[in-house]
Amino acid sequence: MLGYVLSGTVAGIEGVPVMVEADISDGLPQFDMVGFLASEVKEARERVRTAVKNTGFFLEPRRYTINLSPADLRKEGNLFDLPIAIAVLIGLGILPQNTVDDCMIFGELGLDGSIRPINGALPLVNAAAGNGITRCIVPRDNGLEASVVEDIDVFALSTLAEVTDYLLNPEKYTPVMTDAAKLLSDQQEEVGEDFSDINGQTAAKRATTIAAAGFHNILYIGPPGSGKSMMARRIPTILPQLTLSEAIELTKIYSICGLLPRQKALIGTRPFRSPHHTTSMQAMTGGGRVPRPGEISLADRGVLFLDELPEFNNSSLEVLRQPLEDRQIVLARVHGTYRYPADFQLVAAMNPCKCGYYPDRSKCSCTPADVARYVGRISRPLLDRIDLCVEMPRIEYSDLAGVSEKNETSAAIRQRVERAVNIQKERYKNEKILFNSQLSARLIEKYCPLGKAEREVLGQAFEAMNLSARAYHRIIKVARTIADLDGAERIGVKHITEAIGYRTYDREVWK
Ligand SMILES: Nc1ncnc2c1ncn2[C@@H]1O[C@H](COP(=O)(O)OP(=O)(O)OP(=O)(O)O)[C@@H](O)[C@H]1O
Ligand SMILES: [Mg+2]
Repeated sequence: MLGYVLSGTVAGIEGVPVMVEADISDGLPQFDMVGFLASEVKEARERVRTAVKNTGFFLEPRRYTINLSPADLRKEGNLFDLPIAIAVLIGLGILPQNTVDDCMIFGELGLDGSIRPINGALPLVNAAAGNGITRCIVPRDNGLEASVVEDIDVFALSTLAEVTDYLLNPEKYTPVMTDAAKLLSDQQEEVGEDFSDINGQTAAKRATTIAAAGFHNILYIGPPGSGKSMMARRIPTILPQLTLSEAIELTKIYSICGLLPRQKALIGTRPFRSPHHTTSMQAMTGGGRVPRPGEISLADRGVLFLDELPEFNNSSLEVLRQPLEDRQIVLARVHGTYRYPADFQLVAAMNPCKCGYYPDRSKCSCTPADVARYVGRISRPLLDRIDLCVEMPRIEYSDLAGVSEKNETSAAIRQRVERAVNIQKERYKNEKILFNSQLSARLIEKYCPLGKAEREVLGQAFEAMNLSARAYHRIIKVARTIADLDGAERIGVKHITEAIGYRTYDREVWK
């Protein structure tokens, strides 16, 4: 007899439906599994047989053939145990086939028949709902996460026995209910570090506000202990709150990596990823034989912080260039192509020279050649993608002692940022972009017309600073964000001038 159960697998960050078929026929006792399976899927055989037996069902000594289709899709992971077990029980006639109508099932089985949590529950249930499936059975611990998806009933069960009972008596069970919007707002209330912890550094704070408002990449340069890492760490507290769809995209990534805390259904705050400078290229972009998202995808919709930028291995920086433009990464493998979002804000920090104190001659004895060699480690094309560059000088004592009450809080800065973000959202509602930093040259023409005076100022700077075409466009984008923070409809001379100011260091040191 045959049994069919719908399940799924994850490719990239999306779930794909997989049909599990079990055929039970006369012949030598055997348990075969086919269908382009990774080795961990094949191991399901032993778990399923033992779990079914320990749940109290008798597996007749016959010939079992399990097929997972479509056959050209590589199946990975441990989530097929439960659907295989159910398909076998249907094939044996213990469960009627129509009990699993319109139902997607996945879960890992323990030998005792208990159901263990799996990675990727959110993308899988999302795919089920997208394919018109009306209910799904998930491991108990994945229930909250799966229930975020709308238009589908999620039943979170803990043993194989419970699943068979549910399939025979569905009216006894109620689906997991959650209010996704409420879950998100609960997550967002968590507070930790705050901008008001930072004293002085007004110029850097201003630049950071601009970076947050336009999702611009930013680089901090300064001596040790001036607060660069401190400032970067607080950027997520002033970035606009995640929307529900952004939170779901982010949660999918964390879910397939198994990084979603079990009691959390949604990642509600923007991520802050700070990979060490010894991080490999593969860990940065994601990859491996079976690809997994890397740091750039875990930083999606949030901050990727590269502290001590010149210490980074050149190859792990070069791989950032393409995702910085495309806001996603595509990994091609023999088994298929994997696409992961990588829409992050690049934040970097560095000392101006090896000893860290240039141009403070009382402490630094680096020659100009030493300084040039140190900063020369960072590739020009990467620097070209950084919109704002700001110096953070050593902080004065008068700024340190007891003035923190006067500092603006993250909440206050975020309010200004969100106002500017809403202006951008409205302006780009017919485009595929959200932020000024994403403007292409064509869109700059359309949305950032400059007056005569502004063109003159920019022209003078272009000549005097010997700017590249990219730098020219970047200045306009930053000026657009400054004008948005100002609530100004048109870019004015003062906006252009301020934007040019965030390029001076770049001109002096990297010319
Ligand atoms: N502007 C500031 N206001 C208050 N505290 C500060 C400030 N700058 C630095 N500090 C204090 O100094 C510590 C070190 O700062 P931080 O780690 O940010 O320095 P850094 O610029 O990253 O230095 P490095 O170049 O060595 O990495 C902070 O944890 C904080 O206690
Ligand atoms: Mg630091």
